Amino acid sequence: MQVRFFYYSMYCSDVNAQCSKMHAMNIVAANNLACPIDKLELVQKQGCYQCVNGHCFDIAKQGYVNLLPVQHKKSKDPGDSKAMVQARSRFLDNDFYKPIADKLSKIIFKNLSDDKNFCVLDAGCGEGYYLNQLINAVQALNDERDLAFIGMDISKPAIIAASRRNKWASWVVGSNSQPPFLKQSVDVIFCVFGFHSFQGFKNILKSGGKVILVEPGKKHLQELREIIYSEPAGGKSAGKTNHDSDYTLMATHTLEFKINLESNQQIMDLLTMTPHLFRANRQGKSSIESMDSLGLMADIIFSVFEYNPAV
Ligand SMILES: C[S@@+](CC[C@H](N)C(=O)[O-])C[C@H]1O[C@@H](n2cnc3c(N)ncnc32)[C@H](O)[C@@H]1O
Ligand SMILES: [Zn+2]
Repeated sequence: MQVRFFYYSMYCSDVNAQCSKMHAMNIVAANNLACPIDKLELVQKQGCYQCVNGHCFDIAKQGYVNLLPVQHKKSKDPGDSKAMVQARSRFLDNDFYKPIADKLSKIIFKNLSDDKNFCVLDAGCGEGYYLNQLINAVQALNDERDLAFIGMDISKPAIIAASRRNKWASWVVGSNSQPPFLKQSVDVIFCVFGFHSFQGFKNILKSGGKVILVEPGKKHLQELREIIYSEPAGGKSAGKTNHDSDYTLMATHTLEFKINLESNQQIMDLLTMTPHLFRANRQGKSSIESMDSLGLMADIIFSVFEYNPAV
């Protein structure tokens, strides 16, 4: 297994005890990748991942691996386009959604079990903003376990952008409905504004593992929706996500905060990175195109589910 040791220079804060130990954090490359064809373990060999049946998947020069075989694709270029990925990167780089990332990291830290090898998967990671923020936040933890962070998305342009954003995570092109990882190998799966698959996640979660969904609440971006739709539909209410009986809803958290967009580019980026771009009516789109500022409310629901399969 390839191990990336990630030491951070942080001395113990217990100044009175004169502790001079440098705490180490081990971020390891994922060692639970599975062949998408026969589900067997993939082992890294000279620039590719290979299973014992000889199926081989090249590691791209950016460092990611594509584990989405053609037969699992419903279209030639599934998921978000390059333009959507670039708009999302520009928008998120302003840290408008950092409060979401901060709260998500805190919830994940609360759900770290004592397992020595801990694996976190960002399912539908887009261009990697939230996983990158999580990895940055992990540096403040005094934790000496091996932690693997995987970001997976069905969109190749998204994973290319993500692998540029962060070099410590393992980035994979793959689908939430058939995630290419070994059975019972993932501790926490999180999915931000994405297309979760409770059924697909069952195939890879450890018993007692967690699924954390981050979804828009009823008031999320209401001001934008009022401009672009004649009848704006509401988002979700906390705790209303449907799930199957192998999962138990353990907690819901909500978060509300304000965002002030101060240029037309920021407004257009927000529109482009969401499904609103396709659904907006013509009049709404032209109103938005002439705006240079927009105040918005973000309203977010975090739902934490525990997976305990019936035997
Ligand atoms: C609204 S974006 C959210 C991206 C990211 N989580 C964020 O919030 O910045 C939804 C993402 O899900 C991806 N996606 C769509 N269907 C998927 C699937 N079946 N499996 C994995 N990812 C998928 C899209 O390519 C896109 O990147
Ligand atoms: Zn194989």
